[in-house]
Amino acid sequence: MSSENQLSLFDNSNFQQKDLIPTDAKIPIPSGTYPSMTELAQHCNECHRCGLGENRTHAVVGRGNLKALIMIVGEAPGQNEDETGLPFVGRSGQLLEKILASVNLDTEKDVYICNINKCRPPNNRVPSSKEMAACKPYLFEQLRLVDPKIILLTGATAVKGLIGDKGAMGTIRGKWIEWEGRLCMPIFHPSYLLRNPSREVGAPKWLMWQDIQAVRAKFDEIRQNK
Ligand code: URA
Repeated sequence: MSSENQLSLFDNSNFQQKDLIPTDAKIPIPSGTYPSMTELAQHCNECHRCGLGENRTHAVVGRGNLKALIMIVGEAPGQNEDETGLPFVGRSGQLLEKILASVNLDTEKDVYICNINKCRPPNNRVPSSKEMAACKPYLFEQLRLVDPKIILLTGATAVKGLIGDKGAMGTIRGKWIEWEGRLCMPIFHPSYLLRNPSREVGAPKWLMWQDIQAVRAKFDEIRQNK
């Protein structure tokens, strides 16, 4: 082989970012793969580790403070999120903003919001266990990069997707669970509150009010001890 041909073997003109993403979800994406959220987001937008990538407009990676003390984890993007590329921007998101504002938590400053799955499931169905597992390395990388002390898990899918099934939401909500050196609290998903609007004592909305106050108290405690 001529020396020119030898060199052209290493021509990188056909090499693309997506070649770096294992399409088989069984292949791990090791901790430390992404130097920042920008590279992670680029990969998510080219990812086909599960079938959800087929129909996405945008991968929905996260929004908020990349150094926040609190990370909020939802289930998966809906239509508004798929269209905008931002999590929790529909009706559920508006309610989530209100809940946070009720205890003076600012979405830009105090929290980072993301989801178990980065791509929208068809008809907003619950992501399958396989789809959750395929996307999990991205969430782990987000946790490493943001390094939150508090994680709020909105609804049963978020709980199952990150820390495994812990029982019914009615039983586990509002309780702190220590996981990998972080404090997790399962809370009701805002869409559940939209379907259950009663504010009576003991109703889901009232329970959420108790939970978010406990979160605010823990946030203050951690900030004071920092
Ligand atoms: N529901 C979620 O769980 N996540 C979103 O981003 C929007 C709605």
